Amino acid sequence: MSIILVQGYHLLKGEIEIQGSKNAVLPMMAAAVLHKGTTVLEHVPGIQDVFCMMGILESMGCACALDGHRLTVTAPDLSDIRIPEKNGKAMRSSIMLLGALLGRCGEALVHYPGGCSIGSRPIDLHLSALKQMGVEFSEEGDLIHARTGKLRGGQISLPYPSVGATENILLAAAAAEGATVLKGAAMEPEVESLCRMLQAMGVNIQGAGTGEIRVEGGAELHDAAWDVPGDRIVSGTYLSAVMAAGGEAVLKRSSPGHLENVIRTMERMGAEIRVRGGDMEIKSKGRPAAVSVETGPYPGFPTDLQSMMLALLALGQGKGRLKETVFEGRFATAKELHKMGADIIIEEKEAFVTGGRSLRGTQVQARDLRGGAALVVAGLAAEGTTRITDCRHIFRGYEDICRDLSSLGADIRREG
Ligand code: UD1
Repeated sequence: MSIILVQGYHLLKGEIEIQGSKNAVLPMMAAAVLHKGTTVLEHVPGIQDVFCMMGILESMGCACALDGHRLTVTAPDLSDIRIPEKNGKAMRSSIMLLGALLGRCGEALVHYPGGCSIGSRPIDLHLSALKQMGVEFSEEGDLIHARTGKLRGGQISLPYPSVGATENILLAAAAAEGATVLKGAAMEPEVESLCRMLQAMGVNIQGAGTGEIRVEGGAELHDAAWDVPGDRIVSGTYLSAVMAAGGEAVLKRSSPGHLENVIRTMERMGAEIRVRGGDMEIKSKGRPAAVSVETGPYPGFPTDLQSMMLALLALGQGKGRLKETVFEGRFATAKELHKMGADIIIEEKEAFVTGGRSLRGTQVQARDLRGGAALVVAGLAAEGTTRITDCRHIFRGYEDICRDLSSLGADIRREG
């Protein structure tokens, strides 16, 4: 069992470079499957989800080479259209290979995906959009067999701007006959990054980063190299860490342009944040002030930073409120924060948090990726030692949270 130990009450100070974005790189790796040649990705984070995706691509016949943070994927011939069950269930983004495999081979065998246990995560929007593009599905247990004679473009409207469904549609649309106009698309920066990468591979796309994206299908793809942007959620985690522990830090390559809502919220809580190009500098002292926050699709407050906010409100001052509108299971971390002395009341989609208490270190369990990181953040401001179990969830998305926070002066280490 992987464990992280955090000793609280150390001020943070220093500079770190933020790893490449998990949620951007995974669909980019799926996009590489569309192309028979070579795709190079730079700034790839060394995280479990990337290793898992490499395993899936290799099982399908792609060659993957990770050299430091440069990943080269070559996919001249695919030998299998099946995503191995174990890898597919370990990671939700495996579903992205559905669009890519249909685009490349016209056929795919995928299991209903896994990932974090943060509520029900259906894929009905993915499937219904792909059906409109000419895909037929049959299911056997939780195995989905998708087949198409020919993918065709057309107009698709998403009733909710699902990130994953948008990415799957983009991947299929790149290989479809004719143009696909996607209305109600997710506007998350990771979706825009995928569009930019597909453009670099030769796909004509208009409206990247907006709610209406037009993809001209069927272009001949060529080799491309692309830079994975800094991970805005990891940046938000480390901003939260400085707010919890107090101190100051410079976060290089931290994607401030994608964190406007978060920066504004943290400033209202008392942090001083300065943006310099792609870097940010944060200074924070004293307990964070209470705020009321509601998560939502981009440019709303990211659901992936909701657990971090829960921890900050718990160790802050006054009464804060958090409303979760994206994933219903995302308050599971509140139970763990209770063990540390937090005063949090959950009522359906809302958390009411009364700050002003001193958190104390104890044994807590990482229940999901971001919730686990939030416990690290809470541990930085807790008296004594916080022992976080089940940290495998954290390693799915953070390259080395102990290395990063230690370099800022935190007393944190991994055990096991
Ligand atoms: C992605 C991110 C995740 C982030 C989330 C929202 C990756 C690997 N994960 O997840 O970190 O928290 O976006 O920004 O990039 N929904 C349906 N039917 C569907 C698809 C989604 O009902 O077919 C619902 C989900 O249950 C959820 C909401 O839509 O309530 C958002 O899901 P979606 O945007 O698809 O998130 P993911 O792509 O899973």
